[in-house]
Amino acid sequence: MNDFIYHNPDKIYFGKSALNYLGAELKKYGKKVLLVYGGGSIKRNGLYDEVVKAVKESGLKLYELSGVEPNPRHTTANKGAKICKDNKVDVVLAVGGGSTIDCAKGVAAAALTKKGDIWEIVKSGASVEKALPLIAVLTNAATGSEMDEWAVISNMDTNEKIGIGGEGLIPKAAFENPEYSFTLPESQTACGAFEIFNHVLDNYYLAGEATFDLILEFQEAVMRAVVKWAPVAMKEPDNYEARANLMWASSMALNHVLDAGTVHGCACHAMEHELSAYYDITHGHGLAIVTPRWLTYILDEKTAPQIYRLGVKVFGLKEGLEAFAGAKAAIEALEKFCFETLGLKKNLSDLNIDETHFKAMAEHACGGEVIDGPKTLTPKDVEEIYKMCL
Ligand code: NZQ
Repeated sequence: MNDFIYHNPDKIYFGKSALNYLGAELKKYGKKVLLVYGGGSIKRNGLYDEVVKAVKESGLKLYELSGVEPNPRHTTANKGAKICKDNKVDVVLAVGGGSTIDCAKGVAAAALTKKGDIWEIVKSGASVEKALPLIAVLTNAATGSEMDEWAVISNMDTNEKIGIGGEGLIPKAAFENPEYSFTLPESQTACGAFEIFNHVLDNYYLAGEATFDLILEFQEAVMRAVVKWAPVAMKEPDNYEARANLMWASSMALNHVLDAGTVHGCACHAMEHELSAYYDITHGHGLAIVTPRWLTYILDEKTAPQIYRLGVKVFGLKEGLEAFAGAKAAIEALEKFCFETLGLKKNLSDLNIDETHFKAMAEHACGGEVIDGPKTLTPKDVEEIYKMCL
């Protein structure tokens, strides 16, 4: 177990009454609010009206940035930064899924720089310590952005999708009412659920160094919750219990509770971000395609016992198999979950993706070096994994 420091200042309002506290929370940070949202789902489900009402009743002045794309673009974040700078906005309010929250984080960071250009921050690789205060209202259980210090911004001109991080990007507060996610389409629910699952799996003790039992059990509990509740939410979109389990799992999966004492891993994410950057696919779907192939690729005598344990603890496989056979059964169970239960397409070719860019994507995923994890991956390894996904 590694030493760790845990600190998360994000205040969570969870449940049906959450929004009652929005106005008071915003007022703590000033008088001018920039509302950031996506392509219109919040207008269609009535949340936009509720939020605007809460802001206006609190006597705050409202500005808007709409049209944030899934895989949010740097150009959109820059537009928001300009609105903030021109109008001396005090606080940024994101209402939506991970893309909207990430874009709002980009806005909040860029607004405090001279040029107001998020891409300059992204390319500098610097940790973001200063940003305008950010409040998030979550509508999609998936990324954990509502409770973490990361934002992932895309530049489609250069086929780059890059994460930035830093304490300045942690929301001051997040509002999580599971009812806001009732209107999610079935496929988006599936993609979000797998994103949560993968956030935990990327940090799971896979290489036999499991020395922090409590964390291992927490990780398995969250993955089990996803396996149990995702199919319920897909069939019964307004099942509060299912949506609540997924929403809290989303926040737990990446707020560092579940990677306390572990080595933070992100192999699947590094590989998937290239897929989204080149082909603009849904992040959770890309992860579902990559993850079982990655597990197959890293399966060896060191990882087999833990992969088997995952199968037993998360998918209910029986104990007592030889480690390799158990690990293979665990990967099969995971595939069944991704491609049958969640109904996601299994192969990159199903999404019209071929190997044209695999070499460049693999090199970029490794950031000029390698991807660390239970097994170190070189660009050649990553290329092989992409080929397994075809
Ligand atoms: O844009 P709108 O109209 O809101 O529609 C969205 C979008 O089309 C829709 N949606 C969201 N909530 C809804 C809803 N539709 C109906 N009812 C609702 N309640 O769902 C679509 C996808 O939304 P998006 O925000 O793109 O999905 P997600 O939350 O999965 O976010 C994905 C982005 O987050 C990044 C991903 O790479 C991707 O760019 N990530 C951010 C992370 C972080 N900040 O820590 C970590 C993640 O691993 C991930 O990389």
